[in-house]
Amino acid sequence: MEPKKQTIIFVLIAVISTAGIVAGVTYVIMAPTPEGEVDALEIYHWWTSGGEAAAITALVDEFITLYPDTTVQQVQIAGGGGFEMRVKIKTLMLAGQPPDTFQIHNGYEWKIFYDAGLLDNIDNIWTTELKAAVPDVVEDISKGPDGHYYSVPVNIHRSNVMWYNAKVLQYNAIDPATLTTWPAFWAACDKLIANGTSGITNPVAMGEQWTAAHAFEQVLASVGIDTYEAWINGDIDSVSATHYADLLTACEIYENLTDYINSDWAVLSWDSAIAKLIGASPTAAFSIMGDWANGEFFQAGWTHGVEYDTIGVPGTGNMYGLVVDCFEKPKNIPHPTNVNRWLAVVASKDGQDAFNPLKGSISARTDANVTKYGPYQTSAITDFNAIDISPTSYMFPSVVHGSGAPEAFNSDFIPLIGALTSGAATATATATAIAALASTYASDFIKVWSL
Ligand code: GAL
Repeated sequence: MEPKKQTIIFVLIAVISTAGIVAGVTYVIMAPTPEGEVDALEIYHWWTSGGEAAAITALVDEFITLYPDTTVQQVQIAGGGGFEMRVKIKTLMLAGQPPDTFQIHNGYEWKIFYDAGLLDNIDNIWTTELKAAVPDVVEDISKGPDGHYYSVPVNIHRSNVMWYNAKVLQYNAIDPATLTTWPAFWAACDKLIANGTSGITNPVAMGEQWTAAHAFEQVLASVGIDTYEAWINGDIDSVSATHYADLLTACEIYENLTDYINSDWAVLSWDSAIAKLIGASPTAAFSIMGDWANGEFFQAGWTHGVEYDTIGVPGTGNMYGLVVDCFEKPKNIPHPTNVNRWLAVVASKDGQDAFNPLKGSISARTDANVTKYGPYQTSAITDFNAIDISPTSYMFPSVVHGSGAPEAFNSDFIPLIGALTSGAATATATATAIAALASTYASDFIKVWSL
């Protein structure tokens, strides 16, 4: 794929040789399990909601079809966004007991393991065929600062989606097409509350802290792509920085959003928040969530465009927020042959077309068989392709989901949004603290994004 706007400049760029890579994959697929290596595979992931579990099972089934003799063990560590699982993975990795392979977000999130020298180079998986199929923006974040590949992307999730219960909006005569600005959105929420006829007192469903930070990230993008770009480049690092005023504006808009959310947000998983929109008696009409939410509507038997529908988060209609899940190959693992086989399945067109239709994401490959995808994802694929070629549309990597900014920055940033959501911190205090974090972790910002 030709890069357009999403240029990522790594601090170090190494030249890699592609010679022999195709042959490498042929070897991976055809070779028998070496003598002495037990024919097993352990896969860590955090996909436990209805849609998530269905998707990873479909991917594992693809593997088992090819390698029926292999004993596959899925180790599922519950906790949306992977915050719980990554604690476990860090413990195992640092204790020298790496799992065979694990899910993580692509880019900065796996860099701590790269820096510690714990990841295996997987250039052999990145065949010429795979490179041609994966958009540059995703291929680039699969490489380490040394220019070699350290991850295999399994999908592209969109972050800036506003989900809504279509029947509730229809009943209250709210036209979703008009919700392109925050004032229009506030007016729709006020109308729902004033009407009071649909049992909806808190129109926007929100879940635990990371989902709040997820929503904030979309609000920040809505203020302007230049602001978002400055933020992920670590340039909003003081109150006198260019774009600091925009960061403050985003905090103020977000504070306004919290007027419309459920009071039990802090204890709800992301899928429990989405469940507020579903069912015979929904208690919310909207939710800002990545398109893993689609898997939950799908599992409920709802049809996109009928019972539920989507718009871009107000102000982000010309943007595609990127969340990319991937798999890793640590060094010194018990079953390296099967991990190579697993990563090749993850990278394959068939593997991705088995996984993504159930997951809500689109394939990380541009040659996906679109007939396998439902109406929401068909429209997401169209949007992705249109945004990729338009000079006035933009893609932006998620910070909360590990690609946009350093992991340490993200870890400290999320609780700041938690405090803003609960009302423990003001918008001004939050903006000041976010800027101070960029200064604290300045040396960790190693990429220069040009969105
Ligand atoms: C995201 C992840 C998605 C989805 C979601 C909720 O971070 O990229 O695949 O699983 O968390 O768990």
